[in-house]
Amino acid sequence: MCGIVGVVGNPKAVEIVTTGLQRLEYRGYDSAGLAVLDNSGQIQTCKAVGKLAALMAKVPEFVKSLVPRSAPLDLITTSIGHTRWATHGAPTEANAHPHIGSFGATNIALVHNGIIENHAALRTELQAKGAQFISATDTETLPFALADLVSAGQPLLHAVQMLLPTLHGHFAFVAMQAGRPEVLVGTRRGAPLCVGLGENANYLVSDPLALAGICSRFVFLEEHDVVQITPQKVEIFAGGKLVIRSVQHLDLTADAGGKQGYKHFMLKEIHEQPAVLAQILSTHTHAETLQPTLPLTPEVLSPSSINIVACGTAYYAGMVGKYYLEQLARVPVNLDVASEFRYRNPPYLAGGVFIAVSQSGETADTLAALMHAKAAGQHILVLTNSPHSSMARAADCVIPLLAGREIAVASTKAFSAMVTNLLLLALQIGMAKGQQTPAQVAEVMQALRALPTHLQGQLMGTTTLEKVAETLGQYRNRSLLYLGRGLLAPMAYEGALKLKEISYLHAEAYASGEMKHGPIALVEPGLPVVNLAASNDGLFEKTLSNLQEVAARHGQIILITDAEGARQLPSNLAATVIPLPTTHPLLLPLSFAIPLQLLAYFTATAKGTDVDQPRNLAKSVTVE
Ligand code: M6R
Repeated sequence: MCGIVGVVGNPKAVEIVTTGLQRLEYRGYDSAGLAVLDNSGQIQTCKAVGKLAALMAKVPEFVKSLVPRSAPLDLITTSIGHTRWATHGAPTEANAHPHIGSFGATNIALVHNGIIENHAALRTELQAKGAQFISATDTETLPFALADLVSAGQPLLHAVQMLLPTLHGHFAFVAMQAGRPEVLVGTRRGAPLCVGLGENANYLVSDPLALAGICSRFVFLEEHDVVQITPQKVEIFAGGKLVIRSVQHLDLTADAGGKQGYKHFMLKEIHEQPAVLAQILSTHTHAETLQPTLPLTPEVLSPSSINIVACGTAYYAGMVGKYYLEQLARVPVNLDVASEFRYRNPPYLAGGVFIAVSQSGETADTLAALMHAKAAGQHILVLTNSPHSSMARAADCVIPLLAGREIAVASTKAFSAMVTNLLLLALQIGMAKGQQTPAQVAEVMQALRALPTHLQGQLMGTTTLEKVAETLGQYRNRSLLYLGRGLLAPMAYEGALKLKEISYLHAEAYASGEMKHGPIALVEPGLPVVNLAASNDGLFEKTLSNLQEVAARHGQIILITDAEGARQLPSNLAATVIPLPTTHPLLLPLSFAIPLQLLAYFTATAKGTDVDQPRNLAKSVTVE
C-alpha cells in the first residue's frame, strides 16, 4: 500500500523520484519522503506528513540546501523515495520513509512496502547492540540490521541476502548506502518490485507506472530475488546465484486523461461505465454470432469446481459471479474473502479452477490465496485490470477487465467490468458444458449490447438521487441499512461499502430475507433503509413483504426499482423511489450499480469528504 521509487545514474534523480511518487500516490497518501546521496556521499532526507503535495512543497528548499552554489544539482544521481500508508506507527515525519540505520560509520537509507512481522524481536536484538530507533515503524529495523552487517564488513548486497531468511512477512524494500553512490539494492517477497532499464541509468519501482515516459523496458523480480543496480549494470540473484530474468517492453502512459471536466475521478469513472461495457463486448464477443470469445484455457472450460477469491468490491463482484456460474454453467462455486481463504486451509477438488478477481492484481490477500491454490495444483484464472500485475504473472489464464485505468480509490467501473466479464465467463463455460444453447446465450448478449445505452440514460437523470444524498449528507452518527435479494443482495453489500468508504457514514447491508433474523431490531422511526428491488427477478413479492416489515416500524424507505416495480408498490410505502429502466434479470447488478455509486458519491460531496482519496484508504492494498 506504499509506493517505492529508486534511481541510479540519472542527473534528474530528484525530479524522477518526486514525479514517480506522484504517480504512485494511489498506493498511500498519509506521508511521503525521499533520500539522496549528496555531493559528499552523505544521506540527506526530506519528509512530509499528508498528501504528496506537502512533500513537493518542501523539495525546492531541500534541493537548495543540498547544492552549494558551486556544485550542480546534476551531481545528485542517486535517490530513493516512498509514499506511505501507515501500518506501524501514526503518519508522522519520524515514521515516514526513508528510514536510516547506522552502526559505526555505516549509514543505510531504506524504503519499504509491506510488513516485517518479526520486527519486535529484531528491534530488541538491534537495541542490545546499540541501535537508537527514532520511529514506531517495523521498517526501521531493516536499515539498522543492514548497517549492522555492513559495518561488520559485508557488502550491502550480501547483507540483504543474509538478512532475507531471518525476516517474516511480506515486503519489498530498496536500500542505499552512504558513501556508495550509484548503487541500490532491493528485494521482494509477496510485494511487487521491478527494475526499469534506462540508458546509463537504472531504476527500482513498486509499479512500472512510476517510470512512464522514462523507460519502457522492465524486469519483474520473482519472489525472494535480490537485485543490485548501478547505472550500467543490473544483477539479479536467486538463492545466491546470478540469474537472468526476461525483459518486458511496456508502453506506459502516465496520463489517465485527467478529470475531463468532472469534479472528481470517481464521477468520471462512473460515467465511463457505458463505454467500458461497450469495449468489453467489442473485444470479448463475436460481432455476428454474439458468442463470448474470452481467451480461456481448456481447464477453465471444464472445471470440476470453482473457488472465487477476492476482497472488497471485487469480492462483491465475485458474489455476482458465483450466481452466474452456478446458474448458467451449473458448476459448484465456493466464494471467499481472500484474507480468510488460506488460513482455513480449504480442501481442493482435482480439476478445480481458482478464480482471483482484482482490479489492481496486487492485493496482498488475494495474491496470497492465489499462491496457496497454485501450490495445491489448482488451475489459476485471474480477472484483472492490470495485465502486468503479480497476479496476472502467476496465472495460467488471464481475462483482462478492460476498464481502463481507475484512479479513484472507490472502485466503480472496474466493478462493472468484473461483473460483465464474469457473466461472459459463465456463458462461455455454460456453452462448453452444454448447459447453454447458442440461442439462450444470444438472448443475454442482445440485452447486454443494449445496456450501454440504458446506462447512459440512467446517468442523465440524477435529480432524485441528489436530493436523497443532500438529506443523507446531514445525518450525523446515524447508520443506514441496505437490503436486496438474489442478484441484488451483492449489490446491497456493494452499495453500503461505497457509502462507507467515501462518505464515512455507517451502512450495514443484508440479504433482505435475513433482516428478520436480527437487523430488524435496528429499525426505528426515520432509519434510512435503501431497498433494491426488481419486478422481473421472481423475488419482487418477497421483497415487498420485507419492505412492509420496515414500514411497519417507520423506517424511511429509499427504494431503487424499475418502472413496473414502482407501479406495483403500495402507495406511501416508500419515502423515495429511484426509478430505473427495466433490464434483463441477469444484468440487474450492472444497472443497479449506477444509482448506488451515485448515491454514495452525492452523499460524500454533500458532506465535503475527499472523494477520490478517502481517509485511511489506498487504491492498492499490498499488506495482509
Ligand atoms: O485491486 P483489488 O480489486 O484487488 O482491490 C480490492 C479492494 O481493496 C477494493 O475493491 C476496495 O474494496 C475498494 N476501495 C472498493 O471501492
